[in-house]
Amino acid sequence: MSGPAVIEERALDLFVQALHACHGYDFSGYARASLKRRVEQLAADLGVAGVGHLIPRLIYEPALLGDVIARLSVPVSEMFRDPEVFAAIREQILPVLSSHPRINVWQAGCAQGEEAYSMAILAEEAGLLSRCRFYATDINDQALARAAEGIFTAPRIADFARNYERAGGQAEFADYYRSRYDLVCMRRALRERVVFAHHNLVTDGVFAETHLIMCRNVLIYFSQDLKERVLRLFADSLVRGGYLVLGTRETLQFSAVADRFETVSEAHRIYRLKPSRVAHHV
Ligand SMILES: C[S@@+](CC[C@H](N)C(=O)[O-])C[C@H]1O[C@@H](n2cnc3c(N)ncnc32)[C@H](O)[C@@H]1O
Repeated sequence: MSGPAVIEERALDLFVQALHACHGYDFSGYARASLKRRVEQLAADLGVAGVGHLIPRLIYEPALLGDVIARLSVPVSEMFRDPEVFAAIREQILPVLSSHPRINVWQAGCAQGEEAYSMAILAEEAGLLSRCRFYATDINDQALARAAEGIFTAPRIADFARNYERAGGQAEFADYYRSRYDLVCMRRALRERVVFAHHNLVTDGVFAETHLIMCRNVLIYFSQDLKERVLRLFADSLVRGGYLVLGTRETLQFSAVADRFETVSEAHRIYRLKPSRVAHHV
């Protein structure tokens, strides 16, 4: 069989292979349907007739890579997204972590830093900011560069402020940024606590011992095998008693590492690494 649909499926396979072979990015473990939609949209936006025609451009135009990764990676986020989850982190996690002299927080798939700045604000309001280091990582270098500047467009701020209030914000949201025309810049005291860095959940390993990992709305784009790899990486990165927070449509249930964690709140997708590793099989 070789109708147009079959040819496009093969072209997608070859595109994924070319991206891996030429640039080291392996998207073969991403959920197929949403990846296909994004690659087709990329082809349409670049004005090429089909996915297969993207392949020579990948090979001969390395400068295109940043845009390709940016388009495939869906860097959509907002500050205090799902405010009730941030309220739960404020009430249930930060008081426990406050017993540590130093608190490492890893935000995997941080987009433009929205969650990282949200967490820095929570830490500030818990009196923990000076003890916290936030490692915010992503594969999208364009998003990381914007995140490090801490600049957001003013129209987004009203939504962020509403979420902040619903997350139990203790101050005025405007206290945390300076306005410049139609942009806002997050306060230096928040920015300097966050390290934004490139880290690929598909291929890269543990890079720090962490007390809290947030990886929200990233696993939904991954196949089951890739999810398992990433959840194992998180389990191996957490200190005993460390917390993992997933997105509201993601769960640790049914995963091979589930027995290494206890559930703090399934509603908010908050899990805690058990103090001992009795049930850990490699
Ligand atoms: C939908 S956003 C989620 C942002 C934020 N965590 C939130 O929930 O609002 C998904 C992010 O995951 C990142 N991402 C996708 N694949 C990744 C990978 N293999 N390694 C690291 N980050 C990845 C994307 O670049 C994007 O910024």
